[in-house]
Amino acid sequence: MAFSMEFINELKMRNDIESIVSSYVSLKRRGSNLVGLCPFHGEKTPSFTVYPETESFYCFGCGAGGDVIGFVRRIENLDYVESIKFLAQRAGIALPAEGLDDNMSKLRARLYEANREAARFFYKNLTAAEGKVALDYLLGRGLTPSTIKHFGLGYAPDSWDLLISHMKSKGFSASELQMADLAVKNKSGSSYDKFRNRIIFPIIDLRGNVIGFGGRAMDDSSAKYINTSDTIIFKKSYHLFALNFAKNSKERVLILAEGYMDVIALHQAGFTNAVATLGTSLTKEQASLLSRYADEIVIAYDADEAGQKATARAMGILAGNPVKVKVLTLPGAKDPDEYIKKKGADSFRKLLEGSKNDIEYKMQKLKEGFNLDALDGRVSYLKEAVKILADTADPIEQDVYASKLSQELNVDKGAIALQLAEVQKRRLYREKSRILKPNKLPAGEITKPDPQKMRYPKAVAAEEAIIALLIRNPELFKAAEGKLTEQDFVTDFNRRLFCSICDKIKDGVFSGITSFYDDYNQEEIGVISGIIAKNSEFVANKDELCNLIDTLIIEKKSIDVTKAASEQEILEYTKKLYERKNKGVQ
Ligand code: CTP
Ligand code: MN
Repeated sequence: MAFSMEFINELKMRNDIESIVSSYVSLKRRGSNLVGLCPFHGEKTPSFTVYPETESFYCFGCGAGGDVIGFVRRIENLDYVESIKFLAQRAGIALPAEGLDDNMSKLRARLYEANREAARFFYKNLTAAEGKVALDYLLGRGLTPSTIKHFGLGYAPDSWDLLISHMKSKGFSASELQMADLAVKNKSGSSYDKFRNRIIFPIIDLRGNVIGFGGRAMDDSSAKYINTSDTIIFKKSYHLFALNFAKNSKERVLILAEGYMDVIALHQAGFTNAVATLGTSLTKEQASLLSRYADEIVIAYDADEAGQKATARAMGILAGNPVKVKVLTLPGAKDPDEYIKKKGADSFRKLLEGSKNDIEYKMQKLKEGFNLDALDGRVSYLKEAVKILADTADPIEQDVYASKLSQELNVDKGAIALQLAEVQKRRLYREKSRILKPNKLPAGEITKPDPQKMRYPKAVAAEEAIIALLIRNPELFKAAEGKLTEQDFVTDFNRRLFCSICDKIKDGVFSGITSFYDDYNQEEIGVISGIIAKNSEFVANKDELCNLIDTLIIEKKSIDVTKAASEQEILEYTKKLYERKNKGVQ
């Protein structure tokens, strides 16, 4: 990446990490650092920390970490060069010319263009003679021409190559079309149109780029929907349909529906704050995206069993994000689209106003599963209900629902409060022990433990403290030079890291965490930020560094000796075995 160190330093200086992160996360000061709820995974107690001194961030819960560029990269879902552009634009600094001719960002730009051209093609087809069947279908479902235009809906003709030949006439290559997933390669190596004889729903990102499509069949003869697979500009799990329109909701309320048609019907009826996932169940990335544009999410999924299961799942994913969650139940209709058609926008608005908050919804669902006429049914219900109360951090809410429960079940409210305190204590204990053991992360979290690091904890502690000191104070490098070599390192990862630091410092191009972006992936950058975060208490001076180097060298020697000893033992053991065997044969 051809950005000069001067440029990167200037960029970081004008975009200090504290103010950038604060525009996404509400941070509280803790000593010289700042903490908040991690925007990259759901949590209730803050384990996300910003370190102004090292210009870095690290989450002890999920292992995400990096500098300000890495933060923007993750939170805006951009690549490295795009994040640089984003920050440059924000600070009003011009990009150096050599940084612009990056192949990857050129390719991405081509794919954006290809999608835009394809969207134009589909839209034109809808109003052409061959698109009549599709236009009639949409009008028949109650969409107005202006809604169709607003969403840029289209029609993919019933042909294997009409889109491909159109795109070729506009200068796009077969490989570009395949990379955008507009064309599919067949066994013989040629390609055919991915979307054929389908209604087209363009998916647009927050910056207005067309990034993919959903295609609906107009009859039951084939899959109801097909969607663009993940491409280099499109990750299904990171985007939401219609968020480009809905993000401007003044009330900061978003309605989360299941389908494209629900969202479009809702917008047409005036609920321009509706969004949907793109053919997957809600992901945690989408949940954190929602919570950036809303303080309240109303889940309005289908009324069928699948929809109710998805609702429970979505509530789980949303919990831990700083949003209020409400759930809408649709009486007498299978989905929001049908509800509005049957009962009108005003009726839907009333439903919205009366929508239950997540606690009420969960309690009601829970109650349906117990026989409250029987004593043991009441006791079991109460136990589960208290767990739901413990999910909210709001004591007033807890008090209100504890009173309700107490009346409903005729149980002393004090007993409910005691039970609640017990559940909360257990949870707090569990959460604490999770944070204190960053190596034992729950499944699905980003950082996997490194077996080498687990094996030699003492040496690793020294290695990491040395690395953290060098990253924080590269001028200490002179003190380490000659004293410490890569052979003294016990773990491969830290050795590699040490070599990178030495190389960059020697070449005079070291600029903190940013120096690692070329050679380390996002997960590894997180690990590096973790190393810095966990060693922030070391005083950055020469003596401290020399002590650590001595410790590492001693540790490494003793590891080598033990290893050699065990190798010797193994050798002798095999020798004995061999002798015994030979004796037996004789
Ligand atoms: N979906 C999908 N693939 C399928 C079925 C559904 O990707 N085979 C996704 C689509 O994003 C769809 C959503 O799941 O919008 C909801 O599915 P469904 O309720 O079946 O469709 P609707 O959007 O309600 O469409 P319609 O009203 O036309 O039936
Ligand atoms: Mn539906």
